[in-house]
Amino acid sequence: MTSVYSVADSNNKSLRSIRSFVRREGRITPAQQRALKDLWSRYGLEAGEAPIDFVRVFGRAAPVILEIGFGNGEALAAAAAAHPETDYLGIEVHRPGAGSLLRRLSVQESSNVRVMLADAKEVLATRIPEASLSAVHLFFPDPWPKKRHHKRRLVQPDFAELVRRKLRPGGYIHLATDWRDYADHMVSVLSQTPGLADAGASGQYSKLAEARLSTRFEHRGRKLGHEVRDLVFRRTD
Ligand SMILES: C[S@@+](CC[C@H](N)C(=O)[O-])C[C@H]1O[C@@H](n2cnc3c(N)ncnc32)[C@H](O)[C@@H]1O
Repeated sequence: MTSVYSVADSNNKSLRSIRSFVRREGRITPAQQRALKDLWSRYGLEAGEAPIDFVRVFGRAAPVILEIGFGNGEALAAAAAAHPETDYLGIEVHRPGAGSLLRRLSVQESSNVRVMLADAKEVLATRIPEASLSAVHLFFPDPWPKKRHHKRRLVQPDFAELVRRKLRPGGYIHLATDWRDYADHMVSVLSQTPGLADAGASGQYSKLAEARLSTRFEHRGRKLGHEVRDLVFRRTD
């Protein structure tokens, strides 16, 4: 089912806001199902309304990185294992992918990751405290390649402004895509967002692209001959 929901725009008129995903369960393997059942209490964060208290959730004060749309979670699990000093929140709408991530986290005995099954845009707007994130990762978001679907792309001016507010000053958003026109659109939107600046994939940020583990959707794009672009924008205000 195509899902839409109502929000109020700045003039307080009701708008039909368009989601960046279509919720479909797809096939879930017994192992993914078991992981969701057995490991959710350890890694899952339930839907709710209160702002998330990261210190309480992780039991320590540490930098927090949010990954939006982690898919099967391979990049998130690898980052969490490589950086035990950092805490990670992963948000997905696809339950089988969350099951896969929980399995990985359990195998590698990670304690620095929490997972939410929710619309990341809603969570950002309502549950992530202002200036609380060290970074946001958005790797291979759905490209919605048809022109009439471009409005479904996650990276839009309101999303960019939301991300800016939730990043702490100096924090950054790291994006990767194999769709050239989506990359151009991302650059255009993010560079027009006051308080965000292109940090380039150079200098201290060049290592981010190297350190990012290749994901399933990245492999798919490369097989199609697509060039992959990594972008990094930093909060400057
Ligand atoms: C093309 S896949 C990429 C997955 C993974 N990052 C990778 O590179 O393999 C995009 C993912 O984003 C998820 N997604 C799309 N919109 C989302 C939203 N608003 N909140 C959370 N997840 C979302 C989809 O369910 C899908 O798994």
